Amino acid sequence: MSTVLITGANRGIGLELCRQYLSKDWQVMATCRAPAAADELQSLQNAHPRLEVFALDVTDLAAIDKLAAKLEGRPIDVLINNAGIVGPVPVPEHIERQHFGTLDFDLWEQVLRTNTFGPVKLSEALLPNILAGELKKIVTLSSTVGSIVERDTPAFAYATSKTAVNKAMTLLAGVLREQGVTVALVCPGYVKTRLDFGTADVEIADSAGALIQRIDQFTLADSGTFTRYNGETIAW
Ligand SMILES: NC(=O)c1ccc[n+]([C@@H]2O[C@H](COP(=O)([O-])OP(=O)(O)OC[C@H]3O[C@@H](n4cnc5c(N)ncnc54)[C@H](OP(=O)(O)O)[C@@H]3O)[C@@H](O)[C@H]2O)c1
Repeated sequence: MSTVLITGANRGIGLELCRQYLSKDWQVMATCRAPAAADELQSLQNAHPRLEVFALDVTDLAAIDKLAAKLEGRPIDVLINNAGIVGPVPVPEHIERQHFGTLDFDLWEQVLRTNTFGPVKLSEALLPNILAGELKKIVTLSSTVGSIVERDTPAFAYATSKTAVNKAMTLLAGVLREQGVTVALVCPGYVKTRLDFGTADVEIADSAGALIQRIDQFTLADSGTFTRYNGETIAW
């Protein structure tokens, strides 16, 4: 049985990834900031005892080390860095804090800690588990908004956090290639989650299902790539 660890699994795409991996009989390790308040994750756990839930704020680097210590010796086939923020919600009400002229640099730092440092630190701390897994895959949910050439969405914090994680993961792909680890970046599409500005056109279940198919198909040849949930390559 294969094992996946998914961050930010209490709602949105992360929760649906848990649901669909469980239905494929995978062992699922789900992390979220507040397990006691994660009602949907708890009901999923009641139905699937092989779902394990761990508390984790991905901006807390020491907590990531503690989680890694707790999971010592346990193989992880696929790490999915899903947890991420655009900024405070509802997003449209706060987006001007990411616009030039009204920039909130504390917020920018928080977004970088979540979307950039978190995935890299998790990959570093859980590397022994990934190397012990059979599939050896690290997948990070990025966004086309982080593409320098495809989009010019002026959300400075969110856009740069995704551009930065893209670069970090391509570096990691190079570092880990010889050890047989596939490191890939995916965009889930514009999905109807809390991050929707009102124009999202992809259902959560469709995005998660397509992502799982993509992840299943990834081989070492896909390491260092940035693709949409439907398989299209995204220009850096
Ligand atoms: N939806 C889209 O259209 C879209 C497009 C491109 C990329 N993405 C990416 O897809 C990923 C999932 O987003 P989503 O659309 O499913 O959004 P979502 O519904 O807002 O879910 C985000 C998840 O990340 C968690 N999270 C945020 N900050 C965290 C932290 N510091 N520590 C741990 N967990 C944290 C949230 O937990 P709480 O409930 O505790 O806040 C939540 O579980 C994100 O990386 C996002 O950037 C989404």
